[in-house]
Amino acid sequence: MLNVQNVSKTFYPGTVNEKKALDQVSLTLQDGDFVSIIGSNGAGKSTLLGAIAGSFLADSGRILLDGEDITLMPEYRRANHIGRLFQDPMKGTAPSMTIEENLALAYMRSSRHGFSLGVKKADRLYFRERLAQLGLGLEDRLTTKMGLLSGGQRQAVTLLMATIVTPKLLLLDEHTAALDPATAQKVLDITQEIVRENRITTMMITHNMKSSLQLGNRTLMMNNGSIILDIQGAERESMTVEKLLELFSEKSKEQLDNDRMLLS
Ligand SMILES: Nc1ncnc2c1ncn2[C@@H]1O[C@H](COP(=O)(O)OP(=O)(O)OP(=O)(O)O)[C@@H](O)[C@H]1O
Ligand SMILES: [Mg+2]
Repeated sequence: MLNVQNVSKTFYPGTVNEKKALDQVSLTLQDGDFVSIIGSNGAGKSTLLGAIAGSFLADSGRILLDGEDITLMPEYRRANHIGRLFQDPMKGTAPSMTIEENLALAYMRSSRHGFSLGVKKADRLYFRERLAQLGLGLEDRLTTKMGLLSGGQRQAVTLLMATIVTPKLLLLDEHTAALDPATAQKVLDITQEIVRENRITTMMITHNMKSSLQLGNRTLMMNNGSIILDIQGAERESMTVEKLLELFSEKSKEQLDNDRMLLS
């Protein structure tokens, strides 16, 4: 369903700051794949998601989504099919707008639900139902401003916004990294539930090696702009964090350089 073919991206080409962030990356995802991505700082993980979401155009290579060539498609158009979350809970929502207004904006993205001023009654009922599924009591706070929510509550609502119109692809860039451990776990649980229920093909960057093996069905490891490990099935089931670290140094000839990953 997602086909990344030989995608490269160099930042600041021809300058002293030149950085090859993606080096001929190829990757094929099947429908419903839930892929965890780990790797050193600066490995190119966020850049890979950015290339897929269209934050910038790749220097070379092609990207296909459900058979459609989106290589040159602008980001705002890809956003109709691709949901994205970042580490920062402040990103992706309008803090001065209420929960229901934020959800209505996200819901409007789909042409099936036209723009209207104010929130329609039927939509409100639907939002209430979806919010109740988060198990955070937010269904009774539809008119609370987003800016008043805690980081975890906000990430949960942002996740709902990204999936309220089921996207073809969901991109999560360390979306729980800024939360305390208990809240992070809660948001991860919600993530799994939403992804499973709607069978959304998902790519999730995480610095937690353990959850990279536990969540989803496939683990990718990146280093220096390349995917150096791609495991699934039986190989993944028997994989341990220790073995993952070993494989990393074996494949990259380096030690893993990501403080957060090693400490978590
Ligand atoms: N917009 C940009 N402009 C210039 N250089 C960039 C830009 N985005 C990323 N880079 C560089 O590209 C390389 C890959 O960065 P990227 O953010 O993809 O790493 P990452 O794997 O997500 O790392 P981290 O774990 O620290 O988030 C880094 O050297 C980074 O400095
Ligand atoms: Mg990153």
